[in-house]
Amino acid sequence: MGRSRINIAIDGHSSAGKSTMAKSLAKELNYVYVDTGAMYRAATLHAMRERSVVDTAVNEVGLRAGLDRMFLAFRYNPQTEQSEIHLNGINVEKEIRTMEVASKVSLVARVPEVRTKLVAIQQRMAEAGGVVMDGRDIGTVVLPQAELKIFMTADPETRAYRRLRELQQSGKSVSYDEVLDNVLERDRIDSERAVAPLRQADDAVVVDNSELTVEEQFNFLVTLARTRMEELG
Ligand code: DC
Repeated sequence: MGRSRINIAIDGHSSAGKSTMAKSLAKELNYVYVDTGAMYRAATLHAMRERSVVDTAVNEVGLRAGLDRMFLAFRYNPQTEQSEIHLNGINVEKEIRTMEVASKVSLVARVPEVRTKLVAIQQRMAEAGGVVMDGRDIGTVVLPQAELKIFMTADPETRAYRRLRELQQSGKSVSYDEVLDNVLERDRIDSERAVAPLRQADDAVVVDNSELTVEEQFNFLVTLARTRMEELG
């Protein structure tokens, strides 16, 4: 009792299982989970609707102007027991998970004004502590003072295999090679982007989960979090 409510930043490669871990950890600690990838996806959906992004062409002037008409909020859905993202008051949690949004999100996420706006919202959400936030730049840019930073990764082959299984389970027919190429390409885009690239914070704990089960990993993270809370009193 009386422990401080810390902020936990979880960054790492695509398909490393960040959101699964972040969600379970938040539930265990009774913290708020913030999915920053969902915010970049919702910003992309907004830009697509305003036709600032068509195919792979980005109208940056239009996109920047459109940011003033974009209101993002997370609201708890008791049915799914998750907090879900709303764009201008409407739940878009499902729409942001389409391949179309996924194929355009990196074009939108690299626009500096988009990042400035989303980072400010993310920082406000973490002001009172008690947040588990996952993304690519949380420990480095959004919450550099986070009391616990985790950098999650696994070798590309393991991540591609896990992603392949997920896609196959949802009825999509893709080959392992296609998925591996996509994983490597997303690593490249995330790491080479000029603004807020994916980078391991110097003080992050690296968790390579190639050889860990979900349960082993979860137990490890809970222990890390509780130890950190004890240290801080
Ligand atoms: O975690 P995700 O796959 O839902 O993220 C979607 C995209 O948003 C991904 O291309 C990386 C980008 N992103 C980002 O640039 N910064 C973040 N903090 C989170 C996600």
